[in-house]
Amino acid sequence: MDRIAITGGARLEGEIPISGAKNSAIKLMAASLLTEEPLRLTNMPRLADTRFLGRLLQRLGTEVVESDGPDGPETLLTTREIVSGFAPYDLVRQMRASFNVLGPLLARSGQAKVSLPGGCTIGARPVDLHLKALEALGAKIDLHEGYVYAQAPRGLRGAAIDFPMVSVGATEHAMLAAVLAEGETVITQAACEPEMNDLADCLNKMGAKVSGAGTSTITIQGVSRLHGAKHAVMPDRIETGTYALAVAMAGGEVRLTKTRSDFIQAMLDKMVEAGVEVTPNNDGLTVRRNGTLLKAVEFETSAYPGFPTDLQAPFMALMTLAEGESVIRETIFENRLMHAPELRRMGADITVHGTEARVRGVDSLEGAQVMATDLRASVSLVIAGLAAKGETIVNRVYHLDRGFERLEEKLGACGAKVRRLKGDGGEEVE
Ligand code: EPZ
Repeated sequence: MDRIAITGGARLEGEIPISGAKNSAIKLMAASLLTEEPLRLTNMPRLADTRFLGRLLQRLGTEVVESDGPDGPETLLTTREIVSGFAPYDLVRQMRASFNVLGPLLARSGQAKVSLPGGCTIGARPVDLHLKALEALGAKIDLHEGYVYAQAPRGLRGAAIDFPMVSVGATEHAMLAAVLAEGETVITQAACEPEMNDLADCLNKMGAKVSGAGTSTITIQGVSRLHGAKHAVMPDRIETGTYALAVAMAGGEVRLTKTRSDFIQAMLDKMVEAGVEVTPNNDGLTVRRNGTLLKAVEFETSAYPGFPTDLQAPFMALMTLAEGESVIRETIFENRLMHAPELRRMGADITVHGTEARVRGVDSLEGAQVMATDLRASVSLVIAGLAAKGETIVNRVYHLDRGFERLEEKLGACGAKVRRLKGDGGEEVE
């Protein structure tokens, strides 16, 4: 299994182009099930997760063609017909978002059998809200032996879907199903994350009638069919925030391009409070820290436009070197502080009580062998390694490969000493 080795101490200078957003791309890919015409997605990130969903879609009947177009990496998805409505456990278990094929399968062909995803390391992550939304749209749902059997032989019907809590995945799932339902659907307490706008924009280009995405009420007038479209995947706001934190940690000055700073304003406000210089521009932002001391800050994660849970772990890494005590509360997932013990192995002073971490800044971190159980926790260890004395080896790199495109190349181009070690023997590849 590959590992990443980081030799700490190098300042970062230069430019990092941000890729298309993983968490948007995989929902947009699922939207291709809704039409027999081609959906061309540009600015596609090439990640383990997008490759993985591509393979699942191929089993369901989608032709998936990747290429390098004039606007960068693109994927052409064509589902002339659904050849199977079955998403097996092995595939859904490996990537939870695969579950989001259920709604489009149901909307297009009236039936689906999709494995329940089960829990994951950051929390129990039930899918009850997804299923309630589909039931509200008229689907008959039965659960047997870990599978969801869903049927809507006469099609889905528009409905009022009032979510009791904000869920990104359930809001997207409801949109993906309701666009082909008969009549009007109104989703209340919808998630407001920018990925909602991206999905709604793409669906509207395909002929859907979605309004209000990005607010807590989304209204959808169902249409009888959708057509092909071309859509550019929005920039990855979590990748943007992660590299901003990497620069803050290592010191230096880096331009993050092909992205938007307003998507992560709450996190950038905290970076500024911590003493980092952030300058937004038309194409992204510049992050700079030249010798200034970092100051501890307090924050809690929340739904958009609050502080994103996906940036909590990398921000905690930054706070390990800040002067004073930072208080960090994770409110979205019940078990998302697993990086704290690994950061402690590098010399950080962190105590965790339930979902709250207190981080007392130390003078320096020391490189160590570390590993994490999810994507964002893994990258927090890379960030810690950028400022640690000596070498940090991050194990289980497959987590990073799920969500960061060419991480070592992007950081390396700015002067970071980051390299991939192939396999357990430590044999190096370029
Ligand atoms: C999405 O997960 C992202 N994943 C996550 O990113 C992100 O952390 C999360 O949104 C929050 O922003 C993808 O988009 C693929 P939720 P999702 O439904 O949709 C509970 C990453 O590292 N809930 O908004 O699964 C749930 O347990 C990943 O890129 C229910 O109780 O998140 C959680 O506590 C990790 N019942 C809360 O809601 C449900 O039916 C918010 O989850 C659904 C969710």
